[in-house]
Amino acid sequence: MVSGIRGKLRKIETPFYLYDEQSILKNIAFLKDMFSECRVRLFYAVKANNAVSVLKLINQEGVGAEVVSPGEIFVSKKAGFQSSEILYNNVAKKKDEILYAIKKGVRYFNFEAIDQANLLEKCARKAKKKIKLFVRINPGIFSKTHSHLSTGAPLSKFGIEKKELKRVADLIKKFAYAELVGIHSHIGSQILAPAPFIRAAKNVMKIIDFFRKKQIEIRYINLGGGFGIPYRPGESRLDFVPIADAYRKLADSYGVSIFLEPGRCIVGEAGYIVTKVISIKKRNGVKLYIVDADMTENPRPAIYRAYHHIEPLFSKQGRKQKSRIAGSLCENSNEFGVYKLPSLKIGDMLLIHNSGAYTRTMGSNYNGRLLAPEYSVDRGRIRKIRSRQQFINLIENERY
Ligand code: LLP
Repeated sequence: MVSGIRGKLRKIETPFYLYDEQSILKNIAFLKDMFSECRVRLFYAVKANNAVSVLKLINQEGVGAEVVSPGEIFVSKKAGFQSSEILYNNVAKKKDEILYAIKKGVRYFNFEAIDQANLLEKCARKAKKKIKLFVRINPGIFSKTHSHLSTGAPLSKFGIEKKELKRVADLIKKFAYAELVGIHSHIGSQILAPAPFIRAAKNVMKIIDFFRKKQIEIRYINLGGGFGIPYRPGESRLDFVPIADAYRKLADSYGVSIFLEPGRCIVGEAGYIVTKVISIKKRNGVKLYIVDADMTENPRPAIYRAYHHIEPLFSKQGRKQKSRIAGSLCENSNEFGVYKLPSLKIGDMLLIHNSGAYTRTMGSNYNGRLLAPEYSVDRGRIRKIRSRQQFINLIENERY
């Protein structure tokens, strides 16, 4: 992607994010094509990357938005998503948050506890608006990913236990404003094997049967997101074929539409962080390059020990040697990892790959750092889509 624009990138002050629009479009087209026979509707998980320009691009492709807060509703609306294309999930929502969403016209809500179902009905009644509910089940599925990301595991806080579904069925019949229309099941994130997705699709079948026996018509199955991307060079891609097959069977045999909430697989590989070497030293004989990107730009290595491939922006001659790359701010975990790199000098620019998802949205002002600017590139044309924060942002809203 960056091959034709390296020279232009050199002129931009680091660190910064760069998103390739064509890559985002390609990823969406891939998903649409993959699931074309499964009656699928896509809702992009806004938490992965919430830059308005990125959201606009995604919305223009007819993809909806999966949000988890009023803040994400606000941003999604700014990007042009219609309220009818917004699906509001969260383990628990507060009354004011639900009322805000209803006022903005959002109609799809999930719930993950009996008290939340009651609160949703109460809020809808107060607002005199009909809403549609999805009950999120705890699928009890372990998926091979980082333990922080295995949200479908039996002891995770997510979803409702199966033994509570009878209470859900009894309760929902009493509601006048909130109607149960679907089942929600999200098994986790960054999953690279098809098996857990297939198991999750089979798992919901019994639950549809259960509700249908109770005369509750389930029309939609929201199978969440979680499709992993390769972070390491040579890592295999997720095989979507058996997943699409399982989804098609589910849609056909139960006459339901399937909702999906992909985040990472739409934007992850489309994004880069461009950074610069600012200091060089050795630790126990190993080169240690300090760069101007930190956990404030990408906290994934610090939180999940995630690997993000790093390479020089301009290819360099010379023998590759084991090198460590770390940011400068004061945390031991603020280190990207160990890479095989040619000898670098101060000022050399590096590309941190797979930085389009869960980087800027999880960024912070730790150590008084300013959130980095974002650029998009479309067939060689680079555009600034968000400026670097300024010092004033660090004391905004303070009273002193
Ligand atoms: N739907 C629900 C209900 C979710 O909780 C998530 C992600 C998604 C969809 C989107 O999942 P995706 O397709 O992006 O895997 N911060 C972590 C990822 C946390 C994901 C949280 N939920 C990371 O940096 O890897």
